[in-house]
Amino acid sequence: MKPCISASIMCADLMNIGSHLKELERCGCEYIHVDIMDGIFVPNYTLGTDLVRRLHQATRIPLDLHLMVEAPEDKLDYFELFPEDVVSIHVESTRHLQKALSKIRQRGAKASAALNPATPICCLDYLYDDLDMVLIMTVNPGFAGQKMIPSTLGKITQVKEWLKQKGKGHIPVEADGNVSFENAVKMERAGADIFVAGTSSIYRQGIPFEDSVKAFREVLRPN
Ligand code: DX5
Ligand code: ZN
Repeated sequence: MKPCISASIMCADLMNIGSHLKELERCGCEYIHVDIMDGIFVPNYTLGTDLVRRLHQATRIPLDLHLMVEAPEDKLDYFELFPEDVVSIHVESTRHLQKALSKIRQRGAKASAALNPATPICCLDYLYDDLDMVLIMTVNPGFAGQKMIPSTLGKITQVKEWLKQKGKGHIPVEADGNVSFENAVKMERAGADIFVAGTSSIYRQGIPFEDSVKAFREVLRPN
């Protein structure tokens, strides 16, 4: 599949989010990545259910919800979900991963499992029929502006190979965390399809947003 950009909205200027959505649409960003943190699964707090509803009202770009919350199966009903939205829940955040993934699909959205850097891909072994995407964390979740953990590149390759073996090669793999221009090239070579673009790529001070997105796409699709 062609590489997709998922713009990490927590890295945007939240005071100007309305006009920023128009920029995201003009640039053809395929997803808006919405980081939801509960202060328990990860130490930080970020965005929430009200913003998700307002984003749906304001843009047709599908939402890529990244739930960094404990027991996400108990929280899904609070979120408005549309069919093109994808919801990632962390393998480490629930005792009932298959049930939680099924619940996302029952709610009409696409289901994805997210893996922390230390989590092996074998925890997905019996879930190949339950996944519409896999999110590989290339930093520990919780904060923007961290450095990529190099061993996660090999994990992107492993998970892509595993999906192919199961006849699910069409399922996209998303890389999230320090997806800089330089790292995006490595992540794409490793097998990533969707790139969470944050502070290290498209949200950089002093560069017009649309120029950053254009340059990022060129990196993802060299001649
Ligand atoms: C980290 C978040 C990331 C973050 C990426 O917990 O999941 O989505 O927005 O930001 P950068 O690009 O700064 O790593
Ligand atoms: Zn994220």
